[in-house]
Amino acid sequence: MSILVTGGAGYIGSHTVRALKKKNFNPIVLDNLVYGHEKIVTERLNVPFIEGDISDQNLISNLLKGNNLLTKESKIEGIIHFAAYAYVGESIKNPIKYYKNNVEKSLNLLESIVQFNKNSAQFIPIVFSSTCATYGYPQKVPISEDNIQNPINPYGWSKFFVERFLKDFGESYGLKSVIFRYFNAAGADPSSDIGEDHNPETHLIPLIFDVISGKKEILEVFGDDYPTLDGTCIRDYIHVNDLADAHIKGLNFLFNQKNKLKGFSPEIFNLGNGKGFSVKEVIEKVSLVTGKKINYKIAKRREGDPPVLISSSDKAFDILGWEPRYKEIELIIEHAWKWYCRNNSIN
Ligand SMILES: NC(=O)c1ccc[n+]([C@@H]2O[C@H](COP(=O)([O-])OP(=O)(O)OC[C@H]3O[C@@H](n4cnc5c(N)ncnc54)[C@H](O)[C@@H]3O)[C@@H](O)[C@H]2O)c1
Repeated sequence: MSILVTGGAGYIGSHTVRALKKKNFNPIVLDNLVYGHEKIVTERLNVPFIEGDISDQNLISNLLKGNNLLTKESKIEGIIHFAAYAYVGESIKNPIKYYKNNVEKSLNLLESIVQFNKNSAQFIPIVFSSTCATYGYPQKVPISEDNIQNPINPYGWSKFFVERFLKDFGESYGLKSVIFRYFNAAGADPSSDIGEDHNPETHLIPLIFDVISGKKEILEVFGDDYPTLDGTCIRDYIHVNDLADAHIKGLNFLFNQKNKLKGFSPEIFNLGNGKGFSVKEVIEKVSLVTGKKINYKIAKRREGDPPVLISSSDKAFDILGWEPRYKEIELIIEHAWKWYCRNNSIN
């Protein structure tokens, strides 16, 4: 069964491609390589790769029809949509860039799918990567899916709008979707041949590694006067392979809805570990795992950082039977560090 993975040359996408292969799906990666890594797809994952943009409706419609000479793969039966820009700070400085890429281009992609489903009376469902950033400042923690969504930056809004499209298209066109709201993706495949490689990097764990390796002089901790035990922000870190597993479960859930032809509401799931760690705690854990001292300084708060974001993933457990396999933060850091060392030729 072929699955189109948009953004599959990126961090979470590449791990999901591997998980799909392990479950005997045939993933096909579509990525415009603005941030992705072609070699990861063609050399480490060994799956068909198409360099292209999600907004290219000719390309998408040909792919869906199975007219894809590049891959000689059979027609596509499901889509996982990771492709997006995901830098919160950049989205505040340049919202148009985010609304164009994440919203307008996703709309083009969804239109292609709806059109194809209509003309072929077929059922191609979609799994969409959303984010806990759509909650803004949550009303209650741990955060469950019924928390009010009130994003506090254009990145969060861009994901919110696509969630809305999926709701409307489910009702009007019967488009079937699962929406995953991830908390902080972290870690790497234990094989350490794929992992996180963002440029620029904004995620805490790899940023700490950058200080250890000397790429960065010092780590800036944004605020130590939050209402938390040590004053720094608390986040929920979820292993990237656990996220990948959830996508397989999400796809299978959708395939089981095949006979429901009427209106469909997206099924929404938070994906997190259900445990929070403060920035200072993460620094300590990284120090423990790597045996290195980390040079950091307190900087002023960043705009729009909620003090505590911790997921309740009970719904994913109850409905999908999903549970994180790599719960310990030490293990998440260990996998991330092994990959970082290999990727940066550190012995
Ligand atoms: N990393 C996290 O902690 C996190 C948390 C919540 C949500 N998410 C969401 O998960 C998804 C994947 O995140 P990631 O960390 O793997 O990001 P990533 O940047 O590593 O991967 C995204 C990929 O999408 C590609 N892409 C972007 N726009 C495209 C377009 N118009 N057409 C084709 N390809 C395009 C990029 O080249 C990149 O390879 C994103 O949608 C992100 O918003 C990530």
